Amino acid sequence: MLTMEDIIRDGHPTLRKVAAEVVMPPSEEDKQILSSLLEYVINSQNNEIASKYGLRPGIGLAAPQINVSKRMIAVHVTDEKGVLYSYALFNPKIVSHSVEKAYLQTGEGCLSVDEAIPGFVPRYARITVKGINLNGEEVKIRLKGLPAICFQHEIDHLNGVMFYDLIDKQEPLRPIDGATAIER
Ligand code: NI
Repeated sequence: MLTMEDIIRDGHPTLRKVAAEVVMPPSEEDKQILSSLLEYVINSQNNEIASKYGLRPGIGLAAPQINVSKRMIAVHVTDEKGVLYSYALFNPKIVSHSVEKAYLQTGEGCLSVDEAIPGFVPRYARITVKGINLNGEEVKIRLKGLPAICFQHEIDHLNGVMFYDLIDKQEPLRPIDGATAIER
């Protein structure tokens, strides 16, 4: 199982690379890596397991964060209604998005960034993501709220983008024009 020791931190060059597409059908090794990403986020949300292994809680993890520069992400997050979005995807892609923007009122965090970086991160309010799941099936997911933000954060990792890149440097906490503030 993955622990915090497997997660590379800000400053590591892999976090700034554009990750490679995963060749389909995926190899057993790639499936194993993707499963381990999802297992980490699930374990990290279990208080007992998280404290036993020192896992920092997270709602998403991307393969580059464990120094694998391939397009794989895992997300395990509930929306404001308590609906769970639990996905492990190869080659996830945002195929459409709203014009409307949204941002988390509390800002964003990242398992690869040890310190808190305050600031609003502009995101699309709604997105549609396509990807391939661990069974090799294509899935199409419509997302809004926190799950939509989480997927955008993880897909950015596949393109070498960190959340703080998107924060306004002059006025990090200025409400973003026309964007909905989401409370977690
Ligand atoms: Ni992150």
